[in-house]
Amino acid sequence: MSTSKTPQSPAAVSAAGLRKSYGDKTVLDGIDLRIPAGSVFALLGPNGAGKTTAVNILSTLITADAGELHVGGHDLATDPQAVRAAIGVTGQFSAVDGLITGEENMLLMADLHHLSRREGRRTAAELLERFDLTDAAKKPAATYSGGMKRRLDIAMTLVGSPRIIFLDEPTTGLDPRSRHTMWQVIRALVSDGVTVLLTTQYLEEADQLADRIAVLHDGVIAAEGTAEELKRLIPGGHIRLRFSDPSAYRSAARALREAVAGGTPVRPPGSAPADEALVLRIPSDGTPRELRSLLDWLDSAGIEADELTVHTPDLDDVFFALTGGTGTDQPSEEAGR
Ligand SMILES: Nc1ncnc2c1ncn2[C@@H]1O[C@H](COP(=O)(O)OP(=O)(O)OP(=O)(O)O)[C@@H](O)[C@H]1O
Ligand SMILES: [Mg+2]
Repeated sequence: MSTSKTPQSPAAVSAAGLRKSYGDKTVLDGIDLRIPAGSVFALLGPNGAGKTTAVNILSTLITADAGELHVGGHDLATDPQAVRAAIGVTGQFSAVDGLITGEENMLLMADLHHLSRREGRRTAAELLERFDLTDAAKKPAATYSGGMKRRLDIAMTLVGSPRIIFLDEPTTGLDPRSRHTMWQVIRALVSDGVTVLLTTQYLEEADQLADRIAVLHDGVIAAEGTAEELKRLIPGGHIRLRFSDPSAYRSAARALREAVAGGTPVRPPGSAPADEALVLRIPSDGTPRELRSLLDWLDSAGIEADELTVHTPDLDDVFFALTGGTGTDQPSEEAGR
């Protein structure tokens, strides 16, 4: 198993032309993915984009309508058994049984993986310790907090020491501390050479963890690359001037237009979104030099803004630019059937 993260590494997971529809609703419309062994790949998308559908297909829980799919070197169509043996899956919704204790949940997983009684106990104890659940191990899982349940969920996934792990929204609903703990857990897995495919709605999470990120939208991969590559896809940063007084805003906008027409080195404001009617956006790289020249100009033009913020593009901008800022979450005709 390679621990190199270069795209030339053997693919741990690959999909070509992956399709899935429910009734006449196309959820995945020909997706291509390639996840090098030992890397973290984040599938990002708004609610209903098809992230869980993709994970469920790649983890053999549901079947695709079409596509060449390989996981761990095995063909999903002909050898789903081998794929199942190679992977671990933490679903979007908990697999924890609340009626039994955390330890019992772990031992159940050990049984499923045919570990001997002794080995099962050892593995359970070790993972409970690693996920800070030793004190709670003998309590019914129903009494655990959301964060503890999520940790138990992932601990259960690791019982069989899978080399490829699917994590569907591993940190949704976790507080910042638990989220950081989870990130450490994921990083530790990766440093052991494990391949991780995770889905997330949190751009920061993808930014923090993923070697590569794919943005899923309208059934296709709208963009794919490193966080840096994705950020480069969208226009640069800007400075925002916010006004509370509409007349101050109007005269500032007018002065800005005149400055642009008169050749003053202030670039024209971009169009402001409707909910920020009193905000002027001035394209800028946010360097001190540009900022100083803008402040000088504001001073000389007698413009007083209530707030000035420098905005450099982040993954949120990429996400909104690529997905139009809306979810695609329409209940499907077939949902629940
Ligand atoms: N069993 C099903 N029957 C019919 N439609 C389904 C089924 N499962 C999913 N869908 C539809 O497929 C689309 C994608 O759903 P999916 O759960 O994959 O989205 P997601 O990206 O995981 O969303 P979220 O971020 O909310 O978890 C949705 O429109 C959903 O209604
Ligand atoms: Mg989902």
